[in-house]
Amino acid sequence: MSQGLATLLRVGTQKSHSAAESTDFIKCFLKGVVDKTSYSRLVGNLYFVYKAIEAEFEIHKNDPVLGKLYYRELWREKSLELDMLFYFGTNWREEFKPTPACEKYLARIREISANDPVLLVAHAYTRYMGDLSGGQILKKIAKEAMGLQDGDGTAFYEFDDIRNAGEFKKQ
Ligand code: HEM
Repeated sequence: MSQGLATLLRVGTQKSHSAAESTDFIKCFLKGVVDKTSYSRLVGNLYFVYKAIEAEFEIHKNDPVLGKLYYRELWREKSLELDMLFYFGTNWREEFKPTPACEKYLARIREISANDPVLLVAHAYTRYMGDLSGGQILKKIAKEAMGLQDGDGTAFYEFDDIRNAGEFKKQ
């Protein structure tokens, strides 16, 4: 019996997941070594990535495939705007520019959206399933490592409209 897409993605990305977990930044992160400068730069670049993914999903929301993954409760752009305000202040839109690597990531998202939009499923899977999984572990570490108060600088990890992340992942 052929395996469903969820299983193929999970099994097919396991090696990449382990590789992602063993990058220097993530290894330090897991040890609780997180400084505000590098963390706020991560938040800044992720702001542009989620803004791009969500803008393209909005364009394709009536697509027979992408429409099935049109879950605004997952969207991170607004939460990341709160975190940008916290880390960079009110002038954050002027102050923060995406890195060249991030620009490449954004260009790819727009390219596939224009030419082969079903591939956006891969980007949604990698980010949102990760956020609903390991993301909750990273939130705790970030707060402790940077001594953040409740709600300061970690809005990115808060899914206020998703009551049960496990159930939602299954869905
Ligand atoms: C510190 C680093 C990380 C930790 C501790 C972590 C931890 C986890 C955990 C515990 C799960 C749930 C596994 C399960 O359901 O059995 C998971 C799933 C996942 N993670 Fe991570 N993760 C990390 C980094 C990443 C990164 C960097 C990405 C991609 C950007 C990512 C993407 C995913 C995805 C897509 C899944 C869902 C797998 C599936 O069920 O199909 N993770 N992660």
